Amino acid sequence: MAGPDPTPRQADDLPFVPPLRRAPAPISIPRTRWPDAREARDARLFSPVRIGPITARRRTWVPAMVPWRASEHGEVTGALLDWYGRFAAGRPGVLVVEATGIRDVPSGPLLRIDDDAAIEGLGRLVREVRERSAGETRLFIQLIDFLPIHRRPTRERFLARYLELTAAHRAAVGLGDGAPGDAVRSALAALPEEELRRALTRREWEDMEWGKRVRVTDVHLDEVRSLPAILPERFAAAAERAQRAGFDGIELHFAHAYTMASFLSRTNTRGDGYGSTLEGRVRLPLEVLDTVRSRVGDGLAVGCRFLGDEAIEGGSDLSDAVWFAERFARAGMDFLSVSRGGKFDDAAQPKVGEAAYPYTGPSGLACMPTVRIERGPFGLNLGLSRAIRARVRAAGFETPVIGCGGISTFELAEAALARGERDIVASARQSLADPDWFRKLELGRGDEIRRCKFTNYCEALDQRHLEVTCQLWDRDFERPDCRPAACIQRTADGKRRRTAPAWPGPEER
Ligand SMILES: Cc1cc2nc3c(=O)[nH]c(=O)nc-3n(C[C@H](O)[C@H](O)[C@H](O)COP(=O)(O)O)c2cc1C
Ligand code: SF4
Repeated sequence: MAGPDPTPRQADDLPFVPPLRRAPAPISIPRTRWPDAREARDARLFSPVRIGPITARRRTWVPAMVPWRASEHGEVTGALLDWYGRFAAGRPGVLVVEATGIRDVPSGPLLRIDDDAAIEGLGRLVREVRERSAGETRLFIQLIDFLPIHRRPTRERFLARYLELTAAHRAAVGLGDGAPGDAVRSALAALPEEELRRALTRREWEDMEWGKRVRVTDVHLDEVRSLPAILPERFAAAAERAQRAGFDGIELHFAHAYTMASFLSRTNTRGDGYGSTLEGRVRLPLEVLDTVRSRVGDGLAVGCRFLGDEAIEGGSDLSDAVWFAERFARAGMDFLSVSRGGKFDDAAQPKVGEAAYPYTGPSGLACMPTVRIERGPFGLNLGLSRAIRARVRAAGFETPVIGCGGISTFELAEAALARGERDIVASARQSLADPDWFRKLELGRGDEIRRCKFTNYCEALDQRHLEVTCQLWDRDFERPDCRPAACIQRTADGKRRRTAPAWPGPEER
């Protein structure tokens, strides 16, 4: 038996998207029925689907997941090849490589595609995936741009060094223009909390309490004002490198907390034609698409991941998303991958010395929903992808719509396709828990699936920028990583295995 139908109720022509509420106790993982090989053979889930110029053999999709396995300079490593090779062994229709930086900015072990030097390593990654999937998996790469974010400083340090003094600060502590800056800073530091809060602007308070974060609305900064001039070319150069490395598709990262999603957001109040109205907000994303397309031509699938709902107060919701979806389809996106939330706006306050993380607040929970929310995470975004797909179809486009969010059973995946709630089913954490799960389903061996618990152990590792692994297999030191293989690769601290144990598939039985 599957769990209760989690699809939100229809209201007017758009479904009502209820806010997420915490459950008093964790929801249990729904019991389910697995298909036998014959039922799986006839399933929509395992039928081919056209994505622009290419065809995926199945409607199964592993979305981007950062594993923190690139080198310090953002290059492909052996551990990264093992990570993607392991997903490829499960032969999903499409595998999307993690958010990959398009700019030359140090970002720790986050993959980068900011220079031609990256092509060689990425080419190895492409070959690894081809080989491990026996050529059955289409490989896409997610291209990301993000703006600088700083660690939270101590109050003392912020007030002594970072705060730019204004007449308002001087007035708040009763010191005039003639008073030395140090005296004003010391007086501010001596204020009680509430008075200090009143003495600072909201933005200054946030910079002090959360760490300074550059926003797309900071048009007083040259590097922010000029984003529309520089980003299309940066995305296009990165896309061309991906094409030369042999990827089948590009996923433009227009979702979550990052630059492009911030342009699409209702919170984007830029007055330079790249914000404020729906037309203004979608302008840069469309310019990026155009520039990418003219650089890579029609041979590569080019689509985007964007938000069906920002899940923040004052943010974009489904009505914005359906409008964007139609514009994207009209502009020639080859696919639309729908996600939800994941914003800085409501992120939890980081500890001093740490940076804010966009998956810690309510919108973060919407992005990676757990069993601790009411009704659980199962099929959480079906209403979003259904409405988006309906709008795209009504406008006369066949653009495939992809959606994720707690899909971990055949019943839910197949029903989502049958009900027209999406064209392709994406599963991130279930695929991490068991990279062979789609394959086991297809072979009628669903009872061997290791089922995700949706408690976000993996996401907590991601948050701390530690190598991502799954609690269900990372202490299993008995079975090898791949077959045939002699050893098990471990994380840098030696405590956890890096990839899921090999599954003795049908070839070896
Ligand atoms: C460890 C981890 C890393 C992730 N990294 C990315 C990423 O690089 N880009 C992205 O768009 N989403 C990322 N996500 C979000 C997933 O792609 C997906 O949207 C989310 O987990 C919800 O889908 P699920 O319920 O199938 O897991 C990540 C999720 C996890 C758990
Ligand atoms: S760590 Fe937990 S939430 Fe993450 S994939 Fe494994 S079981 Fe699922």
